[in-house]
Amino acid sequence: PLITTGELIGRARAEGRGLAAFNVITLEHAEAVALGAERAGRAAVLQISENAVRFHGGDLTPIAQAAAAVARASAAPLSLHLDHVTDVDLLRAAHPEGFSSVMFDASNLPYAENVKATADAVRWGHERDIWVEAELGRVGGKEGEAPLDAHAPGVRTDPDEAAAYVADTGVDSLAVAVGSSHAMTSRTASLDHELIRALRARVPVPLVLHGSSGVPDAEIRAALAAGVVKVNVGTALNTGFTGAVRHFLTEDTATVDPRKYLTPAREAMAEVVTHFLQLTG
Ligand code: G3H
Ligand code: ZN
Repeated sequence: PLITTGELIGRARAEGRGLAAFNVITLEHAEAVALGAERAGRAAVLQISENAVRFHGGDLTPIAQAAAAVARASAAPLSLHLDHVTDVDLLRAAHPEGFSSVMFDASNLPYAENVKATADAVRWGHERDIWVEAELGRVGGKEGEAPLDAHAPGVRTDPDEAAAYVADTGVDSLAVAVGSSHAMTSRTASLDHELIRALRARVPVPLVLHGSSGVPDAEIRAALAAGVVKVNVGTALNTGFTGAVRHFLTEDTATVDPRKYLTPAREAMAEVVTHFLQLTG
């Protein structure tokens, strides 16, 4: 069924587990998340990024309604989340499409502007019962961005600033920069667990780890133990998906029916989903 992200986070916290969230680009991604969640017997978040909406021509309706329909038909509890939103018009379009949460991403703005823009997004969200996540510090590797030096000042999330940020914006959860980076295809990131614990001690809302595809299993387990709740996974699905397509089409140069290679590709993504759900459970 389609349930709300707030409810999934509440359940995860009450049970002392993590909550994995997976980025959906195509219908097959949503189907793979549902399949992987059913096999693992776990809940998950289906998240659609602003970049994915742009890929679909800028209108979020078709992919959002498809993902919501997959969630409603699934035996697993699934929620729909709009991810990395920088465009306020897109934020405002989220509500009627089944989204119960959004990540509003003003992390590239200077602190005071980030606070102001995010507080506005939170006000908008809370009038509609939408859970609002935001980012403080800078998790690098976002599409179209120059690489970041993860140790430069202002890149990692500062615990005192994070406490003030949550109080000043009213956000429901906080994405933190603790050593992970987006779009990694190898799992070689190492996290600052001391920093996660310091953030956990100062920040009353659930912490979110972005760029989890590049983080080894043991580091994700340690991050959960240190206080992370939501674990965002995107690239690992695409590594599975594209690897399966590439393998199929290298072996078979005659097939033209996309169902022939999308079937193993969707299955490869479902295996990745099950893996991360077992890891965060
Ligand atoms: O918001 C989405 C996640 O941070 C995904 O990052 O593609 O590096 O796993 P990833
Ligand atoms: Zn992210």
